[in-house]
Amino acid sequence: MTRKWGTSKIMDNYIFSERSKAHLDELAAMTNSELERLKENSAKNGYCKKSIVEAMWYSLSAGGKRIRPALMLEFCRICGGDVKKVLPSACALEMIHTFSLIHDDLPCMDDDDLRRGKPSCHKAYGEAEALLAGDALLNLSYEIISGSDLPAETKITVISELSRDVGINGMIGGQVIDTSYNVEMTGDLLFEMYGMKTGSLLKAACKIGCIAANADETKLKSAEAYAEKLGLAFQIKDDILDVSGDEKLLGKPIGSDKESGKTTYVSLYGLEESRKTAEKLTKEAISELDNFGDNEFLKELTMFLLARNY
Ligand code: IPE
Ligand code: IPE
Ligand code: MG
Ligand code: MG
Ligand code: MG
Repeated sequence: MTRKWGTSKIMDNYIFSERSKAHLDELAAMTNSELERLKENSAKNGYCKKSIVEAMWYSLSAGGKRIRPALMLEFCRICGGDVKKVLPSACALEMIHTFSLIHDDLPCMDDDDLRRGKPSCHKAYGEAEALLAGDALLNLSYEIISGSDLPAETKITVISELSRDVGINGMIGGQVIDTSYNVEMTGDLLFEMYGMKTGSLLKAACKIGCIAANADETKLKSAEAYAEKLGLAFQIKDDILDVSGDEKLLGKPIGSDKESGKTTYVSLYGLEESRKTAEKLTKEAISELDNFGDNEFLKELTMFLLARNY
C-alpha cells in the first residue's frame, strides 16, 4: 500500500512542513530497521514455531503509521535523552500495539478481515495462530526492553509503566468495556473507554520517552496530559474515519463500528460535533507541548493526526 503523509496545509496556522514529514519518515525508518534487526535475532534464537513467527512479522510489517514509536523517540529527543537507547522500547511498544490490533480483529472481538491493507492476521493464519502471535508479541516486547541498553533502574520503571498501561486499567481494560454489550454507553463512559483502550498506549509512548531521558516530574506530567488529550482526539478521529474514510487508504474496513452495533462518539453526537470535539482536544493537547522546548515537530504531528485520512 502506498500512502503519503498527506497535504502540507493542515488547518489555519498549521502546515505539515516538508521538514516534519521528513522527520516522521526518518523516525518510522529507524523503527522499521530496528524491528528487522529484532526479527533476525528472534529467528536465530528460535523463539517459537515457524508459522507463529511468520504471523507475528506479517502483522508487524504490514505497514502501520508507527505513531507510538515516533512519539516515544521524539519525547526522548526533546528531553535530551539518547534516542538509540530507547529505540528497542519504541519497537516493543509497536509490538504491543500490533498485538492489540491482531486481537481486536478476531471474530470474538470486532471481527474485521482487513488490517493495514492486508487480510487480518486470523484471515491469513487462522484464529489460533493469530491469538498466539498476539500473545507472543506481547511477551517478546518485555523481553526486548529487559535486554536493552537503558540503565537497569530505568528499565524497571519502563516495564512497570508499560505493563500498567497495557493491563486491566489500561488498553485491555478499555477493550473489556468496548466488548461489554450489556453496559449502557454514556458520553462519560465512552471517554473513559477511549482513554483506556487508545490513550493508554499513546501515554506509554510519551512518558517512556521522557523517562528514558530522565525528564523531571513537570515534563512527565505534561507528557501525560498531552497524551490524554491526544488519545481522545485520536480515537474520535478513528471513529470519524470508520464512517467517512476510504477503505483503500485506511487499510481497514469502513462501517465496521455500525455493523457490530458499537456506540462511538460519532454515533452518539454526529459527525459535525465529533469533528469539533476532536479539533478542540487536539488544540488542548498542543498547548501542553508548550512545556517542552524544540516542540515544532510534535505540534505539527499532533495536527496531522487530526487531519489524517488513514
Ligand atoms: C489503530 O491505531 C487503533 C486505534 C487505537 C484507533 P493506528 O491508527 O495507530 O493504527 P496503525 O498502527 O497505523 O495501523
Ligand atoms: C481499537 O479501537 C483500539 C485497540 C486497542 C486495538 P478500534 O477497534 O476502533 O480500532 P480499529 O478501528 O479496529 O483500528
Ligand atoms: Mg475494537
Ligand atoms: Mg477494531
Ligand atoms: Mg475503529
